[in-house]
Amino acid sequence: MMGKETVIREFTQRWGSLPEVVVQAPGRVNLIGEHTDYNNGFVLPVAVNRYIWVAASRNSERKVTLYAINFREEVTFPLDDIQFDGEKPWSNYQRGVAYVLQQEGFRLPGIKAVIGGDVPIGAGLSSSAAVEVAMALAFQLLGGFEIERPRLALLCQRAENEFVGMRCGIMDQFTSLLARENCALFLDCATLEYRYVPLPEDVSIVVADTGIKRELAASEYNLRRQQCEDAVQLLHKRWPSVNSLRDVDPASMPGWEELLPEPLRRRARHVVNENNRVLQAVKALERGDAEEFGRLMNQSHISLRDDYEVSCPELDLLVETAWQTEGVYGSRLTGAGFGGCTITLVARNYVTLLERKLKDAYQACFGVLPRIYDLQAVRGADTAL
Ligand code: GLA
Repeated sequence: MMGKETVIREFTQRWGSLPEVVVQAPGRVNLIGEHTDYNNGFVLPVAVNRYIWVAASRNSERKVTLYAINFREEVTFPLDDIQFDGEKPWSNYQRGVAYVLQQEGFRLPGIKAVIGGDVPIGAGLSSSAAVEVAMALAFQLLGGFEIERPRLALLCQRAENEFVGMRCGIMDQFTSLLARENCALFLDCATLEYRYVPLPEDVSIVVADTGIKRELAASEYNLRRQQCEDAVQLLHKRWPSVNSLRDVDPASMPGWEELLPEPLRRRARHVVNENNRVLQAVKALERGDAEEFGRLMNQSHISLRDDYEVSCPELDLLVETAWQTEGVYGSRLTGAGFGGCTITLVARNYVTLLERKLKDAYQACFGVLPRIYDLQAVRGADTAL
């Protein structure tokens, strides 16, 4: 199993000395509030005990040399002319972070670094955000500057939006930087106001990975985002106060759905209802009502499946199996969808039963075993030395 030690050892073997800094950034799993972040809405994620580690030291040149353990590849790029790399696409996250930090006027030192982690790649647990965050912190520590965490999250998001070309929202980077142990992070993506909501002690977060990675995921994701923007444009003409789907208030906007052609109508309906579900879910969690919280998770899945259309048969099977398992409060796809993972909230005593049921059902239907993780909610990124 990859750990911090593996990354430090690799660094020392490659470059003959200990790294000056080691940082870790966690992946995340979202409890509820899916495809709401880029609509200025609400999300409720946790950071999980799966990390990306970066071990790094300064070098005397104006360039960055990176070795990625998970890809067994090394790249070098000059700080003064950072280009997109079509051959080693994994390095575009790190390139993007360096690019954006420099654009913002921070003077970056040349560095050599080893990067590795145990966040499953492309599984919807935000390995990419964790890479961006770990890299940004390494640059910050070695460059001797400090950026407030919410701003750093925005810069990492910008790296992904503008350099990598994935128009993700702010949830993943924000969570990886600002999460708190044993808590969910309730974030208003319009204002970046946030607060922590403690998780119940006797409940486990079980994540099941379909292992499916859809090539189309990035383009479908960007398409959903475009559809939301198109819906806003139409609604804005009639109700000028609507500048994002967050602003849709069904009570004071009778007939708003009918104004939109399909599929925009379904897409917008998901976002509006999902925002409302997050608010309800926070209240449920705060009064310790895991049953109600679970019901809202289930509704979220149905809405993502039917209205937002980002589920797939593999995700549906895992979710439906969980719904039928004793001790389960709720289950849904988590992250962008189109493959990736489901999240299930389950009473701790029933974790083993749930794991068995998920494995049996998945194998019977698809002939392979899903990966299953029983995860803890941890604090955001930090130095790891
Ligand atoms: C991906 C993006 C996030 C968010 C989710 C969907 O994880 O990176 O910003 O939009 O999808 O909720």
